[in-house]
Amino acid sequence: MDRIRIVGGNPLNGIIPISGAKNAALPLMIASLLTSDTLTLENVPHLADVEQLIRILGNHGVDVSVNGRREHQDGSYARTIHFTCRKIADTTAPYDLVSKMRASFWVIGPLLAREGQARVSLPGGCAIGTRPVDLFIEGLTALGATMEIDGGYINATAPAGGLIGARYTFPKVSVGATHVLMMAATLANGTTVIGNAAREPEVVDLANCLNAMGAKISGAGTSTITIEGVTSLSGARHRVLPDRIETGTYAMAVAMTGGDVTLQGTDSALLETALEALRRTGAEVTSVEDGIRVVGHGDAIKPVDVVTDPFPGFPTDLQAQFMGLMTRSTGTSHITETIFENRFMHVQELARLGANISLSGQTAKIVGVSKLRGAQVMATDLRASVSLVIAGLAAEGETVVSRVYHLDRGFEQLEEKLGRCGAIVERVSE
Ligand code: EPZ
Repeated sequence: MDRIRIVGGNPLNGIIPISGAKNAALPLMIASLLTSDTLTLENVPHLADVEQLIRILGNHGVDVSVNGRREHQDGSYARTIHFTCRKIADTTAPYDLVSKMRASFWVIGPLLAREGQARVSLPGGCAIGTRPVDLFIEGLTALGATMEIDGGYINATAPAGGLIGARYTFPKVSVGATHVLMMAATLANGTTVIGNAAREPEVVDLANCLNAMGAKISGAGTSTITIEGVTSLSGARHRVLPDRIETGTYAMAVAMTGGDVTLQGTDSALLETALEALRRTGAEVTSVEDGIRVVGHGDAIKPVDVVTDPFPGFPTDLQAQFMGLMTRSTGTSHITETIFENRFMHVQELARLGANISLSGQTAKIVGVSKLRGAQVMATDLRASVSLVIAGLAAEGETVVSRVYHLDRGFEQLEEKLGRCGAIVERVSE
């Protein structure tokens, strides 16, 4: 199993190109199940989760061809991938595939809309919380589907004439359930109005792509999305939006190590709340042409309290990284997690580096320390892992992060991107 070895203490200076967003690419890829034409996606990141979803979509009959690999001057690359599903080959998403990645459950929406039926394994719990699927069941039931749970699978069946547009208001904001209901409603009879919809940029990106495919969606990015059903969708070409979580992660790394980095190919509008929190810590964050410039001072990091919330609030996917930064603040800060009930697994690992963090329910109290010291730590989930990398970059001495397969799910060329900015970070294969 690979590990990442970091020797901390160097400031970061240079340019980091930001990849296409994993959490936008995954639902966009799944949307290819809605049409028999080719959906071409540009700027698709090269990540383990993307490769896994390619395998899952192949099982449903999607033919995938990768080309147009575009090398950037700095060695990073983005891919253009063509997805063609002439015919759905199988409406079952089996346990061994769905259990590896929760987002693969989302195929339930397009399969049901296009084929009138789907049998999809329940995704089960995962490290950051129980993550139930009740909102998917309620939402698709509102469109007329019959949803039955049987032997760990959901059997979903549409009415004989297809799904029927309806008004449905989510009792709780869910990104995945909004993606699924929006995709399913594109091919329903009549109009669907989704209330309390997720407003994340990835929802807007999916809606834009679906509209390019011929869907009639309005209101994405607000909490009310209206979808007028159409009889079929066509192919389209769409560029995956920049990864706001990768952007925020590197911005926090610079704030922590000090230095001057331009995050290229991204947009501050995707993460205003997080960038504002970063400015309050004392980092200088400015929009520049084609990106964001972050100047960090490395010391005199001011303590800042944050509470995670659905977009436009502070993203749960940046909570661990911000906690990493706060471990070296000059005072006491509090971070409250409201989205997932078990997303504090980085706390004990950060403590191994010398952080002073105590937990009370869903709130972490972080008393800043003047120094972190390198140690052996273990990655527990994707975003928790990268918080350890950031902390390792600012720690004295050597940090070794094990179980890096978590990082490979969501960070493209992490060691290369950081290494080109002066960090000492390398992958060690056993
Ligand atoms: C998406 O997960 C992201 N994943 C997550 O990123 C992200 O943390 C999350 O949204 C919140 O922003 C992808 O886009 C692939 P939710 P999703 O449904 O859609 C509860 C990462 O590290 N809920 O918005 O699965 C749920 O338990 C990942 O890249 C129900 O109660 O999240 C949670 O408390 C991790 N019932 C809350 O809603 C349901 O049926 C929000 O989850 C569905 C969800």
